[in-house]
Amino acid sequence: MPLFDVYPLYNVTPVSGKGIHVYDDKGEEYLDLYGGHAVISIGHAHPNYVEAITSQVNALGFYSNAIQNPLQKQLADKIEALSGCQGYELFLVNSGAEANENALKLASFKTGKSRVIAFKNGFHGRTSAAVAATDNPNVVAPINAQQKVTFLELNDILGVKAELEKGDVCAVIVEFIQGVGGLDQGSAAFFEQVYALCKTNNTMFIADEVQSGYGRSGKFFAFQHYNVTPDIISIAKGMGNGFPIGGILIHPNIEAKYGMLGTTFGGNHLACAAGLAVLHTIEDEGLMANVDAMSHYFIEKAKTIPQIKNIKGRGLMLGLEFDFEVGDLRKDLIYNYKIFTGGAANKKLLRILPPLNIEKQNIDQFFEALKGALKNAEQIVD
Ligand SMILES: Cc1ncc(COP(=O)(O)O)c(C=O)c1O
Repeated sequence: MPLFDVYPLYNVTPVSGKGIHVYDDKGEEYLDLYGGHAVISIGHAHPNYVEAITSQVNALGFYSNAIQNPLQKQLADKIEALSGCQGYELFLVNSGAEANENALKLASFKTGKSRVIAFKNGFHGRTSAAVAATDNPNVVAPINAQQKVTFLELNDILGVKAELEKGDVCAVIVEFIQGVGGLDQGSAAFFEQVYALCKTNNTMFIADEVQSGYGRSGKFFAFQHYNVTPDIISIAKGMGNGFPIGGILIHPNIEAKYGMLGTTFGGNHLACAAGLAVLHTIEDEGLMANVDAMSHYFIEKAKTIPQIKNIKGRGLMLGLEFDFEVGDLRKDLIYNYKIFTGGAANKKLLRILPPLNIEKQNIDQFFEALKGALKNAEQIVD
């Protein structure tokens, strides 16, 4: 049976990984500056992670949400301790889209309203309400288009005010650093004013931290660079280091009711074991401090490359903007220099989303390769 052909694929077949590297079926080593799309947080095949998953699956891999599962509470407590988000409650799901879907649903339950404000070039996932709040007509099917979503420009505070004052908006959903869109960020004043407007208009302020969370921005959550307290925080990618797990942190101003949300697989034993191993490793290895140090080192090196016109993002969620489309550059980096990087909706942007335990020598290797690849590109243009 052929596979449904929705992914344009690179001709590389990774079969194993260790730390910052993956290895293909021919034994070739690749430097992973893409992290499987910001997913690999503590590195490939981290021994703590392998041990936690192995022993959990030997004990009990799964049971439903109808029984006591103390691992969920342990995970909730560890997220609270590392993030400093006091008083929130945790609901566990399996992916980023599902996290946002439940966040939007909860906002609508809480406020009794149904319109959503989202931002141009934002990405929130591919399920019903999440995809409707995603600014890309190519991924929104007619069945999703019935949702009421208004897209505004980042920093358009007057637009946000005018829309919220109409009184029918249940949620404003924000990526504090846009991932898929290309690393754009609103200003601090904008985010803080949107938050204040949500408070006065009975609208839930949702922080989509699916990509920017779990230390990637240098703080546990990207919203923590600002003075805001989201009503709901969505998490996923880095949370399981590749094991499918997501969740929402819910402010105590939203009350749970039996049956309000639910899932078969969300919060299963194996996912919680993976999630706990990730958090313990982030803490024990001081990975948030490493993000800051490596981000600084990376940015300083990037500033010395004249072809880089703009450096975007924060922490280890970075974008290098050129004045040409980077598709061929990415191919050269993969096939000739054995380095994975990411792309974005902004075709001139190379995205850098490495595991959080990247080291200086990996960054040095990347910049040597980039210089070579840029020279190749110039020769081709000549
Ligand atoms: C900010 C953001 N939200 C939501 C999602 C959707 O996550 P998933 O692909 O796990 O459904 C993504 C995925 O790229 C994302 O970057």
